[in-house]
Amino acid sequence: MFHLVCGIIGFCTLSKTPLAQSPGSVLFKGLKRLEYRGYDSAGVAGVYQGKLIVLKGKGKLDELEEKIRLSSVRGYTVIGHTRWATHGIPNDVNAHPQTDCRNEIAVVHNGIIQNYRELRQFLVERGHVFESDTDTEVIPHLVEEFYREFNDLYTAFKQAIKMLKGSYAIAMVSTIEPDKIFFARKDSPLVIGLGNGYNFVASDIPAFLEYTNRVIIVYDDEIGYITSTNVFLENIGSGVVDWSKRVRVVEWSIEDASKSGYPHYMLKEIMEQPRALRDTLYGLLSDVVVDEAVSILLNSRKVFITAAGTSFHASLYYSLLSSILLGKPVIPFIASEYMVYSPIASSGDTLIVVSQSGETIDSLMALRAFKKKGVRVIAVSNVVDSAIPRESDVALYTRAGPEIGVAATKTFTTQVLLLTFLALKQGSSIGRFSESEYREYIGLLKKVPEFSREVLASTEDIVKELAKWLSRKKSIYYLSRGIGLPIAMEGALKLKEIAYIHAESYPAGESKHGPIALVEKDFPVLFVIPPIDYLEELLLGNIQEMKARGATIICVLSEKSNLIDQCHYPIKTPHTHWLLTPFTHTIPLQLLAYYTAVVKGLDPDKPRNLAKTVTVE
Ligand code: AGP
Repeated sequence: MFHLVCGIIGFCTLSKTPLAQSPGSVLFKGLKRLEYRGYDSAGVAGVYQGKLIVLKGKGKLDELEEKIRLSSVRGYTVIGHTRWATHGIPNDVNAHPQTDCRNEIAVVHNGIIQNYRELRQFLVERGHVFESDTDTEVIPHLVEEFYREFNDLYTAFKQAIKMLKGSYAIAMVSTIEPDKIFFARKDSPLVIGLGNGYNFVASDIPAFLEYTNRVIIVYDDEIGYITSTNVFLENIGSGVVDWSKRVRVVEWSIEDASKSGYPHYMLKEIMEQPRALRDTLYGLLSDVVVDEAVSILLNSRKVFITAAGTSFHASLYYSLLSSILLGKPVIPFIASEYMVYSPIASSGDTLIVVSQSGETIDSLMALRAFKKKGVRVIAVSNVVDSAIPRESDVALYTRAGPEIGVAATKTFTTQVLLLTFLALKQGSSIGRFSESEYREYIGLLKKVPEFSREVLASTEDIVKELAKWLSRKKSIYYLSRGIGLPIAMEGALKLKEIAYIHAESYPAGESKHGPIALVEKDFPVLFVIPPIDYLEELLLGNIQEMKARGATIICVLSEKSNLIDQCHYPIKTPHTHWLLTPFTHTIPLQLLAYYTAVVKGLDPDKPRNLAKTVTVE
């Protein structure tokens, strides 16, 4: 059970809280500030008169306030949580906080505990009883177990944290030390807010910005606790940290803070792809449902894959990858064209439906038409319990977190990562490549977050420059070959939908069959060049035929490519295995669309005529 990009808040105050509001209402307002992160359940815990009070459930904050009065939680040491489930149905039991057997310890968590199965086994063998099927619940039980052993709560907390593998931002309260909120951070964001007579810990600054703008960013592998008047902070390995030098005064507005200081959600979401990709891969590596999907696919007669928009580009990529890596055909089709394909589907076939929102009506209609033919359906989505996963036989989830910008960015790259992993798992099962080759491929995928971080850093400036030139153009071609084509299509869609520039993508080899008639002096042609020798040779010919007609050539290509000198504007990406092309080559195209829109004075988050999710035919 995984939840991700959840919202956490902890508030610790002197009994006479200087804020002249009940701690419960400060906590509730803080959770409301984190609502933009998306969630499906929420909860709070407080320590009052030696008792742990926990109020939680499935649903939105206002519904829960109505039903169980979250803001009424008692105590001067309170924690809260909004859960964005990425795995398993949101329900009351799986909502946070999660507690130990004795109901003395409550924990809220954002991230993925990769080794939670082993830890749960370790704890069950020692008599711990679990209520939920979340990965988080192992944390309070671990602390309980180590408290029995060490009889000191902070030592127990530290021991428990040392047992965790994966990503986490954690806050914990306990009746054992009722004036402290314990915290730990690895890979999932966590910040401390310093007040006068009160302190906060939260996953994001907006949670407490109206009460204080004095912030300490907690770094990876740091752990500690806050009280109403003090902060203890240490690195879990190297010991105590002098946090006084790290206090920052934040000048953001609340709105800016929910974009983490970025001007638009779209840029924030482009920039958070390393985290989204890492969490998606972490989650998949420990997700048994993938094995179920693999066995369905390997026992299928025909395999179809369908989606709309950006998700179709991810689907098309998967169909090319299946052909190249597995030697297995997959029939891709645009979801709204399902009536042409469902007649050739029959039981024993499988349909993969890719949908970030899980609500796209075209994709849902396609799913239903294929289900009527007895076809099994595998959903790939970013939103747990949305319509398409609900109506599928198996659901696989990306862990990109909520995508607020209308244009899909991090959800595309995480979809491609999930589909690549699915193809590799199949290849390994059918012996298409050896166990060691499979491990090598997985090792490559584990480098994706790092490569995406490198691409973001190394291409943003040149793309910003290029955007100024491109913003004056009326039309552009995005060309590629092979596995580069879905990426070129995705880049073209991005430019169309947020910069309103006509961008057309087609296989580069098609140019001489008509499209090249459009090309004249300074006509922009962008080439997506995968680091594959034979494709580079073929694309060289296409670049030359375009240059011969006066086109201006933009290229996204490896820094080691032989074609760099052929391009007027080479956008160089780190050289890596062709399997990582979608991650190294898509990100510059997302940035190009974003900065072109900004140069044109447009709002990339709210493009005209478009909705984030198309739920009507
Ligand atoms: C892409 O940037 C658009 N937001 C749009 O094409 C989107 O990908 C399409 O509507 C499909 O949405 P879904 O993934 O939620 O099904």
